[in-house]
Amino acid sequence: MPVLPKIIEGKFIADTIKDEIAVEVRKIIASGKRPPHLVAVLVGMDPASESYVSGKEKACKQVGFISSVYRYPEGISQEKLLEVVNFLNNDEEVDGFIVQLPLPEGLREDVIIESIDYRKDVDGFHPANAGRMMKNLPCFLPATPMGILTLLERSNIDTEGKNCVVLGRSNIVGTPVSILMGRKAKPGNSTVTLCHSKTKNITEICSRADILIAAIGQPHFVKADMVKEGAVVIDVGIHRIPDNTSPKGYKIIGDVAFDEVMKKCSFISPVPGGVGLLTIVSLLQNTLKAYRKEIYP
Ligand SMILES: NC(=O)c1ccc[n+]([C@@H]2O[C@H](COP(=O)([O-])OP(=O)(O)OC[C@H]3O[C@@H](n4cnc5c(N)ncnc54)[C@H](OP(=O)(O)O)[C@@H]3O)[C@@H](O)[C@H]2O)c1
Repeated sequence: MPVLPKIIEGKFIADTIKDEIAVEVRKIIASGKRPPHLVAVLVGMDPASESYVSGKEKACKQVGFISSVYRYPEGISQEKLLEVVNFLNNDEEVDGFIVQLPLPEGLREDVIIESIDYRKDVDGFHPANAGRMMKNLPCFLPATPMGILTLLERSNIDTEGKNCVVLGRSNIVGTPVSILMGRKAKPGNSTVTLCHSKTKNITEICSRADILIAAIGQPHFVKADMVKEGAVVIDVGIHRIPDNTSPKGYKIIGDVAFDEVMKKCSFISPVPGGVGLLTIVSLLQNTLKAYRKEIYP
């Protein structure tokens, strides 16, 4: 019997969660309190970062959060940026903030991230949050891995005892999602293999996966011959490629060759309309938790 693929409804899931958050925000405002406030610090003019930050602003507006963007030119000094972080750490009207990565050359991302108050680190990149995630303690989870878990959970995909293969070991996606999928938790409890550029026999490893998470940064890297019949495929990649048929002159594709892979799998997340939408939603969820001091009372 051929498997009928089910496209994971990223937009529906994201909209549902945003509606849930909006209800909470209306209750907060009705009780006479100020709404949650999320700040993004944006250095330079990277188009992908600009687009992510504008998506974040739009989402904040949709749910009723206050949203601010602090913009700085590429030449900002490390000291000045640390001052900005320190100011936001101490601003009681700010519940959570992110410093949009990547930072321009010359700025030390690790130093900047470690200077963020971990209680306002809604991106979940501070070592305190990363360490707590490792230990399965309450923490801010990094937005994209958290979004992947949400997609799996809200699509009722069972992860327990499954073989999960993660392609890519970046600090923001591959490594944390591999930890989360292997944790004693739900979603989680998978047996995880983490692949990277030095992995041998990657096609063979992928073709054994019940759940395949592609965060490799290579357009259409995952082909049908790498996917097991009936597997769940989560595509994290985002690539803008020229397309004369589109009014914008480009289209967005992922790390997975969607058309051929979808014929083999049980579930697949589309690009666009999948993980990317949930990344922003995770940031909203973390900001609401920061506002309520749910994780760090
Ligand atoms: N949807 C979202 O919200 C979202 C969020 C973040 C990122 N993204 C997208 O996700 C993709 C991955 O981004 P990232 O920042 O996580 O990754 P990244 O920093 O670009 O790292 C890529 C990872 O893939 C591995 N890799 C690259 N080429 C490979 C190959 N041919 N064979 C095996 N492994 C290979 C690298 O191995 P080494 O470690 O050995 O170099 C590295 O671990 C990008 O397309 C990015 O735009 C999407």
